[in-house]
Amino acid sequence: MKFFIDTANLAQIKEAHDLGVLDGVTTNPSLMAKEGISGQENVINHYKAICEITDGDVSAEVIATTYDEIVAEGLELAKLHEKIVVKVPMIKDGVKAIKFFTSKGIRTNCTLIFSPGQALLAAKAGATYVSPFIGRLDDVSTDGLTLIEDIRTIFDNYGYTTEILAASVRHPMHIINCAKLGADVITAPLSAITGLLKHPLTDNGLAQFLADHAKAAGK
Ligand code: E4P
Repeated sequence: MKFFIDTANLAQIKEAHDLGVLDGVTTNPSLMAKEGISGQENVINHYKAICEITDGDVSAEVIATTYDEIVAEGLELAKLHEKIVVKVPMIKDGVKAIKFFTSKGIRTNCTLIFSPGQALLAAKAGATYVSPFIGRLDDVSTDGLTLIEDIRTIFDNYGYTTEILAASVRHPMHIINCAKLGADVITAPLSAITGLLKHPLTDNGLAQFLADHAKAAGK
């Protein structure tokens, strides 16, 4: 399973990269705003900076919502770096634009997926990734993991190569359950990724090993 980090924070991207487990980065307009990035030139420079840190794909989201504008904005984003994947919202014009980008060999991530039907449409249009938002479904008392399971079944039934990029991941158990269900990728905040490291028995066991070693060495 690939691990993407869901942030526009360069220090956190670097930390995940240095851990040696990072396969890519996803951003969205809210995450860019959180880092205080605004204005076309700053946004473009920030995407370039992210591409310099990671070895993998970098999802850059369009702001446009009409077909012509999504295409124009996506073409500009795709030109920035070969790692850029154009992130397009799940709307009618977005699906049409994904079909266009696919025909041009430009990779896409269809975002804001909340139903199996939306994922199926995006896959038919040729999306490289679909991003089902599991945390936001959980927030409204709907099981986000069931969506991952349903999409996995549908894609496997027909051999769609579109990758399931589980998004809106909030904690380590989301990651583990997505792995059990066969999501191809998770995108998560750094805290959820590093949360996988933690177990009290590991901490206790290590403390004991070090104490025993010190005792044997007469310290
Ligand atoms: C996906 O690519 C989005 O950036 C993201 O996962 C949204 O997560 P949130 O629901 O925690 O904002």
